Amino acid sequence: MKKFTGINKAVFPVAGLGTRFLPATKAQPKEMLPIVDKPLIQYAVEEAYDAGIRHMVFVNGRNKRAIEDHFDTAYELETELEAAGKNDLLALVNSIKPDDMHCSYVRQSRALGLGHAVLCAQPLVGEEAFAVLLADDLMTGPDGGPSVLKQMVQVFDQTQASVLAVQEVPRDHVKRYGIVAGEASGERLIRVRQMVEKPAPEVAPSRLGVAGRYVLTPSVFDQIRQQPRGTGNEIQLTDGIARLIATEGVYAYAYQGKRYDCGSKQGFLEATVELALKHPEVGPGFQEYIKTTFC
Ligand code: G1P
Repeated sequence: MKKFTGINKAVFPVAGLGTRFLPATKAQPKEMLPIVDKPLIQYAVEEAYDAGIRHMVFVNGRNKRAIEDHFDTAYELETELEAAGKNDLLALVNSIKPDDMHCSYVRQSRALGLGHAVLCAQPLVGEEAFAVLLADDLMTGPDGGPSVLKQMVQVFDQTQASVLAVQEVPRDHVKRYGIVAGEASGERLIRVRQMVEKPAPEVAPSRLGVAGRYVLTPSVFDQIRQQPRGTGNEIQLTDGIARLIATEGVYAYAYQGKRYDCGSKQGFLEATVELALKHPEVGPGFQEYIKTTFC
């Protein structure tokens, strides 16, 4: 079996149109919507960085320049902050892209699906195992514990095989997820034997839904390239991974932590409230506000 040397690259498919969040996303990418004071994409990039990844690959679309700008130098802003002696804010702005973090961008010129987006990153990923993070799934690790992706990279170090983050979802929600089934293979681990994209509840093989975190071996690229279109007439990442099962191990990992579906208004609001309550600056005041207004 090929021994991969850790996970060094993370792919962020960010070309989606964000139609579930119109009108907010008419002129700005959904990944730039903030939870408290940070855009969704920054949470995902920080999670990847925390997992030891230093090369971020963004699969971008038209009208998504704000994402590139967010991880670039902002000369005017930085010069003004420096001149005004606002060193805390300057440090905050500079911390968005640490010096040892490298960002690459590739365009997905047509919205052909998540699998197609991941395939667009192949020239930048090459023959390495890599992570995929869907920024509209905001994931938090357990209090004081490792982030979800960091947990998955630790699992990958053991298995040297693809790892998918999963959680149990209500039966009437299975049609929103990639669903996996298989047999237990150690603590929190399942050896995946079946994977299907957004099944109807009657035919779903389980209630284990894939959250937007993946660690994948590069063989998935060949599978995606060869597969026919799937659910919604799109080139699905789920179908590529399902094909991979026939040739190599794929594991589902029941992560420790919490997922907020920030692609939905409800999930976005839940993340905003919960992260605001814990926020070092606004948390105490917000807790007080909630108590006096609603309790
Ligand atoms: C995508 C994937 C799906 C996965 C989900 C997680 O769906 O296709 O398999 O379970 O992300 O958020 P989307 O939410 O983009 O429709």
